[in-house]
Parts: sequence; structure tokens; C-alpha cells
Amino acid sequence: MFNKHGNYLDTYLWTVFLFAIIFPVIIKCEGDPDEFVPPLIYIQSRGYIGESHYITTEDGYILQAHRIISPKYVHVPKKVVLVQHGLLLSSMVFLVNSPGGGEYFHGPIEDKDPVNHYRDRHPEVGNNLGFLLADHGYDVWMPNSRGNTYSTNHTKMSPFKDKKYWNFSYDEMAFKDLPASISYIQYKTGQSEIAYIGHSQGTTIAFMLLSERPEYASILKPLIMLAPIMNLTTTKDGLKHILTDEELMKDLLAVGGPFLPHASLLELFPEVVCATKLHFICTNVLQIMGGLNVAQLNITRLPVYFSYIPAGTSAQNVVHYKQMITKRTQFFDFGPEKNMAKYGRSEPPDFRFDRMDTSNMVMFWSENDLFCGAEEMDAVRRTLRRPLMAEYRVPDPLWSHMDFLFGRQVGRFVHGPVLGILKRYPIVWLPGRAPQNSRTFSGHSNPPTASHPLPPGKHFDRVRIY
Ligand SMILES: *[C@@H]1O[C@H](CO)[C@@H](O)[C@H](O)[C@H]1NC(C)=O
Ligand SMILES: *[C@@H]1O[C@H](CO)[C@@H](O)[C@H](O)[C@H]1NC(C)=O
Ligand SMILES: *[C@@H]1O[C@H](CO)[C@@H](O)[C@H](O)[C@H]1NC(C)=O
Ligand SMILES: *[C@@H]1O[C@H](CO)[C@@H](O)[C@H](O)[C@H]1NC(C)=O
Repeated sequence: MFNKHGNYLDTYLWTVFLFAIIFPVIIKCEGDPDEFVPPLIYIQSRGYIGESHYITTEDGYILQAHRIISPKYVHVPKKVVLVQHGLLLSSMVFLVNSPGGGEYFHGPIEDKDPVNHYRDRHPEVGNNLGFLLADHGYDVWMPNSRGNTYSTNHTKMSPFKDKKYWNFSYDEMAFKDLPASISYIQYKTGQSEIAYIGHSQGTTIAFMLLSERPEYASILKPLIMLAPIMNLTTTKDGLKHILTDEELMKDLLAVGGPFLPHASLLELFPEVVCATKLHFICTNVLQIMGGLNVAQLNITRLPVYFSYIPAGTSAQNVVHYKQMITKRTQFFDFGPEKNMAKYGRSEPPDFRFDRMDTSNMVMFWSENDLFCGAEEMDAVRRTLRRPLMAEYRVPDPLWSHMDFLFGRQVGRFVHGPVLGILKRYPIVWLPGRAPQNSRTFSGHSNPPTASHPLPPGKHFDRVRIY
């Protein structure tokens, strides 16, 4: 149904139109109390301390990062973990899975096994990575990429009036958002080494940064990549069908602006569709986003998930994914003329993932992930200059891309081993930032205007071509 762009646009417009009419009728339906909760209130509702931080990038985009600390660990030094979400998602995806996780474990209990260890102590939060990390004494930072629900602001431009605001793709997320987030977190916490956990696009932008600016390998330790994406040329099904429609993509680029934003109109989507017999439409969206695994999905909770996703991105970013599928993983293709001005050549340069120079990288992948299955992992291994520190194939052969967020057993299969890896990495302070400064809990705070403490290399203005 998505193959002809006319049909797709019609369907989209009709859906929006119908929601506008159905809205007054449906509004009275009762929803799950976890739907549409503002992040800090959601975090507090689970007994944790939440903060919002506003991080300004060098090109003026204002990102919102959510930070979680457990009340048990306010006064002790906490290792910093940066958790980065994927395409059309937000920081909330690490918090909104059903409670539980431990009860799915069947097997002998061995004390040294991180899976068992966490199962016994933390049965309630095991499936929600953000809370689980806080519960284990980590200082959890979850930045939101530019243009999503929580990061729609700019020092000069208005996202609602200036179309130019939306002229970005994952290039900017990798080379502007991520460095700004890292510097900000270093500045606030006094720590020079940051543990990085990415999902999907959250892994891609880290690969890009480490390729173009290899010096970041000394800051991001370890790098834990969930459902990693380096190349999409071999991707199957799902997104591919929509994104390879040339006409639709041309339209999308011409129209520009946001893509699937979290507008008030779309807030009706979960109640209208996901909570009714039409919930198959929501599961289809999950299918598009990387594969569906019904056994791992709590269908009752779909309205909660869909009150936070899709969280929006730019149309240009979606077009960049199309380029990744039909061509290669490269910088955004602006067309020959603009490419010449921007990159000094008519074709956009490829990313050189073989230039990543880290021995602290771990990957979690699964057979049924439409974006990164066994075939793609072979390519990843061939590409890397240094071997992975560890690699985990989720033992469920049906495990898919979104199960890394919403799977019923994600606590057992993924989060347990993640905790085991993190435990090996100590806190490393910036020069002159002693542990007594570690209690930097400060409520809402302004971005640092002074120079960043650890400017890692040059600013990214022109692409370096080798
Ligand atoms: C956007 O950023 C500006 C400039 O920092 C600030 O004054 C304004 O309150 C922000 N708007 C929103 C909606 O957060
Ligand atoms: C934004 O991007 C679109 C599509 O690439 C382009 O046509 C437009 O000129 C850009 N706008 C600005 C202000 O750069
Ligand atoms: C599934 O989601 C519902 C709705 O949020 C929740 O009440 C229930 O506990 C969840 N079930 C499981 C097994 O996690
Ligand atoms: C993956 O993408 C990179 C960058 O475009 C490219 O150099 C590499 O050959 C690709 N690998 C595969 C297996 O397609």
C-alpha cells in the first residue's frame, strides 16, 4: 500500500483528516496512566530523581537531555552513562517498557552471573534500561536528537516558522549534537570518560563520530551498541519499501520540514488506533521500524508506546536513510553543486568506519533484526579495524530491532550483560575535578557558555576527505 507515493500521501492526509473528526468522539475513552506523561513526572513516578538539561550545539540547536539518578546514590560518585535513542524515537523509549523482566529467567543461579545478580535485586525495573542503570548507581544521561519531541528549539530559529530549522539529517546529529552532548556532560559531571549505549541510529551516529574524529575513542568507554546500523544496503522489507520510492522521496525533500512530529493531532493516534481492534496498524508501524516479534511484545501496552513514538525527525533525515539504502553510508547528498561547495567534490564522501580506533566496543544483535542480522554483522566484522571487545547474539531467533526497547525479556537478554560490561569501567575524572565535586545535582541548569573542558579536536566545519 505504500509503494505508490500518491497512495501513501493520500492515506496519510486522510488519516490526519479522520482523526480530526473522530477526536471529539473518542476523547472520553480512558487510557493507561503511563500515556503522554511528561518525562520528569514519569521519572518521579517511579521513585527516581529526574532532571532536564538544555544543551546548545555549535549551530544553535537546543537539545533537551533527561538525566536520572537514584535517590539511593545521590551522594556517591556515579559513573556517567550516555544513552542515545534511535530514529523517530526519544529518551522515553528507555523508560516506558512494562515493569518487570526478572521473572522470565529460568536457570541455575550463580552469584557471578550479572543476569542473575540483577534479577534478584531489581525485579521491577529490569526491562527499563534508564531506571535499571540508575538503580545500579550510574548517572544516566539521555540526550534527545535535534528535531524530536523534546529537542525542538533553537537559539535563533523557530522550528515552527523557519523551514531552514529542519535542514538537518543524521550528519548533524553525529557531528554537532553528539559532541555538544558529550562536552556538556563532561562539564557537568567532571568525568572525562563516558560510557556510551546507543540503539539503532544512536549507534550509527557514534560510528560516524568515531570515524571522522577517532580521538573520541578515548572518551567513549565502553561503547555498547544495541541493534547497530552501519550499512542498510542489504536491509530487508520494512522501511525499505517506503524509502526506496523515488517520487515520494523527492516530494519529501521538496516539502522539507518535520517528519512524523509529535503534534497534538498525532497524540490521538494511540487511543484511536492502538487501543482498538485496529491495533494491527500500530504493530505494522513496528514492523516498518525493524521487525515485529509478537512473542516479545506486550500488546496491551501499545497505546503507551505510541504515546511517545514516533517522536519526529526532519524530512531530510528520512531522505538520508533512503540514500543509505539505495547507495551507501555517506554524507548527505545535496546534489552535485552543493556537494562541491560543502565537500569539495560532486559526490558525497563515504564514511570510513574502518578508521574507528577503539577496543572498547561491544555489539548486541539478533537474527530477526531487519537492519542488522547475521549478514550485516559479517560486514561489520569485516569493516572494523580492531576486533569487538565482545559480541552478543540475542538467543531468541525471532528477536527484532524494537525488542531491544520493548521486548518482554530485554532485561534478561540485554540489560543483564550490559551491566556486566559497565562494571569493568571505573570513573575517570577530568584534571582538577575531584570526586568531592561529584554531587553536581543542580536542578534545571543552563548550558555552559564558557569554553568546554575537553575540546576533542577541531570543530567540524568541512568534511575531511582521505
Ligand atoms: C527556546 O529557546 C529560547 C532561547 O534559549 C528560550 O528563550 C525559549 O524559552 C525556548 N523555548 C521553549 C519552548 O523551550
Ligand atoms: C533546505 O533544504 C532544502 C532541500 O535540500 C533546500 O531546497 C533548501 O534550499 C534548504 N534551505 C536552506 C535555507 O538551506
Ligand atoms: C502489559 O502492559 C499492561 C499495560 O501497561 C500492564 O498493565 C501489564 O503489566 C503488562 N504486562 C506484562 C506481562 O508486562
Ligand atoms: C558499509 O558502508 C561503508 C561506507 O559507505 C562502505 O565503505 C562499506 O563498504 C560498506 N560495507 C558493506 C558491506 O556494504
